Amino acid sequence: MKNLLGCNQLNKENLIELLDLAEKVKRNPEQYKNALSDKIIAVMFFEPSTRTRMSFESAILRLGARMIVTENGKTNSSSTKGESLEDTVRVINGYADALIMRHSLDDSAEIAQSVATIPVINGGSGKKEHPTQALLDIFTIKEKRGKIDGLKLCILGDLVYGRTTHSLLQLVSLYDNVEVYGLSKKALELPQKYIDMLSERGVKYNKCNSFDEVPKDIDVLYHTRIQKERFEEDLGNEEFVINKKVLNQFSENTIVMHPLPRLDEISTDIDDDERAMYFKQAHNGVPIRMAVLLKIFGRD
Ligand code: NCD
Repeated sequence: MKNLLGCNQLNKENLIELLDLAEKVKRNPEQYKNALSDKIIAVMFFEPSTRTRMSFESAILRLGARMIVTENGKTNSSSTKGESLEDTVRVINGYADALIMRHSLDDSAEIAQSVATIPVINGGSGKKEHPTQALLDIFTIKEKRGKIDGLKLCILGDLVYGRTTHSLLQLVSLYDNVEVYGLSKKALELPQKYIDMLSERGVKYNKCNSFDEVPKDIDVLYHTRIQKERFEEDLGNEEFVINKKVLNQFSENTIVMHPLPRLDEISTDIDDDERAMYFKQAHNGVPIRMAVLLKIFGRD
């Protein structure tokens, strides 16, 4: 694996390899503590981030690598002076052995890769892709459920501008007998191109209008935040809030996931319920990102 630009580049075989490696790393992180001690990794985030950036930084440090960081690329890099993304990447290319980047443009990872000779890892590109988030999501589901085949997944919230579900759908659809349900405001329904992608891979997409239409034995309720920063209109708050009363309509094996940050879409009254997985899910960002870096450098 030379780059990680999106989940569309992963097949089932390399996905399973990555998940297996992350499991090994999680079990025995010590084994990898010097694996990348000769590497310098550039971390360049043009959009806000807490989890993705800090868990990448933690992964870098746990692998013994060093890093150079632009935490707020939009205001602190030469992009404010009008430098093109291509030129910024061309320059960083000479400073580091790999580039981890987040940017508001949908094709930013591909643009970076087109001018870079070092590996590029996408830390979130516009509304299009967030591959390492999807990897940690599927890792968390597998950890909890034991397998992905036969998964019943319901995605909620912002299915238009939220990139995490767009990436996750590509990964779950590599497995057998997966069913996907969607519940969102009308204006934030899953775009047709993702429904088509699922259908090409033999996965039926079931659009729901209320929690009552979501099967009671759903395995995962995956909620997402309305990405207010990505559009102008005011669509108001989330209609479909998961709270104790809602969660209790579902099975005792239904887990609740969220890439975080959450706003009002998941009520804090379920935080102590053992079905609430979002914080454990966020912690899985470290072994997954360690596994991605090991693969990128062929050090697995
Ligand atoms: C997500 C993102 O940046 O796409 N956050 C994350 O990386 N965990 C989700 C979001 O911002 O709503």
